[in-house]
Amino acid sequence: MRILSVVGARPQFVKLAPIARAMKGRAEHIIVHTGQHYDELMSDVFFQDLGIPAPDYNLGVGSGKHGEQTGAMLAGLEKVFEEAQPDVVLVYGDTNSTLAAALAAVKIHIPVAHLEAGLRSFNRRMPEEHNRVLTDHASDLLLSPTEVGMKHLAGEGLAGRSVMVGDVMTDVLFRVREHLAEERQPLPDGVSAGKYFVCTIHRPDNTDDPTRLKGIVESLAALGMPVLLLAHPRLKALAEAHGISLAAGSIVLHEPLAYPQLVNAVANSAGVVTDSGGLQKEAFLLRIPCTTIRPETEWVETVELGWNMLVNDDLSKLAPAVQRPAPDPTDATPYGDGNAAQRTVDALLEKFAK
Ligand code: UD1
Repeated sequence: MRILSVVGARPQFVKLAPIARAMKGRAEHIIVHTGQHYDELMSDVFFQDLGIPAPDYNLGVGSGKHGEQTGAMLAGLEKVFEEAQPDVVLVYGDTNSTLAAALAAVKIHIPVAHLEAGLRSFNRRMPEEHNRVLTDHASDLLLSPTEVGMKHLAGEGLAGRSVMVGDVMTDVLFRVREHLAEERQPLPDGVSAGKYFVCTIHRPDNTDDPTRLKGIVESLAALGMPVLLLAHPRLKALAEAHGISLAAGSIVLHEPLAYPQLVNAVANSAGVVTDSGGLQKEAFLLRIPCTTIRPETEWVETVELGWNMLVNDDLSKLAPAVQRPAPDPTDATPYGDGNAAQRTVDALLEKFAK
């Protein structure tokens, strides 16, 4: 059986790693990179560090407005699918690459499977929310990471196509953590173990309005411990455009980290401050308290279990949230046992093998 994976943005490379490994010896696996993320630190290092085979195709679409970027992907992917003739296209998460791949495939009658199906923020301002909903409804097989995801799918009439497989990000995190236990990695310059926060900010709602971004940066700069700010290209570009200096006060400005170094940095930190989806969960799996600068989260389990706190409109609540004491320990495993990729390949073979 021939399975074709489409990825394009950083979190998708992380999810692809355990899937590519689980495919070995079980199915022919073709990898297509749309080129949505193209900087070495946003793309290439993930393939190298996580042992992902080089993509068979790279469309090199690069940056652009939503319509422009998604449209370029649609046109490029259609040609690739026609040439590669996969039995199923596997799409990941909620980016523009996800939606473009799902649409391109269904229009030419190639079945689609969606990994990380069923997540909802119910926030229609987020481009990712539209990508999720549209991709789920176009897909033939919905691979959900959580029980909450399965409930959302059932609520939208999609239960018959849904399978709960667990979260592949747990697979990759556990694997990397094992390697880190064997081989100690140095921390980035300017921080020491247990005495810093890890921070990432990249969502349009936080970066695009100068007043909002300034408020966030000022709150971070005033925290009582170094804040390792791993600056996404979007954050850097917009801060520069708005004339906001990121290297202020407590902030230790740093390039984005490769995945093993990121896990190491989070595991040794006092807390995480972020608007990323993946990082909220990585913090939880490493049992590091997280504060999320968003009005809601798709990963509600992290909040319910006390390991994640949401701060949005009132930024004066950010410092007390980040500096709160660690919550009660928990042995809950809402994100699975680290074998989600195997279950994903099982489900794909069961549904699509001829
Ligand atoms: C995308 C995803 C988001 C995901 C995030 C992870 C969509 C709608 N959003 O957001 O769900 O959480 O990736 O990082 O698909 N840029 C570079 N170099 C790169 C990549 C991007 O400089 O390698 C710059 C571009 O100039 C662009 C900006 O970053 O303007 C945003 O990139 P884009 O892919 O549109 O969205 P992200 O904000 O990265």
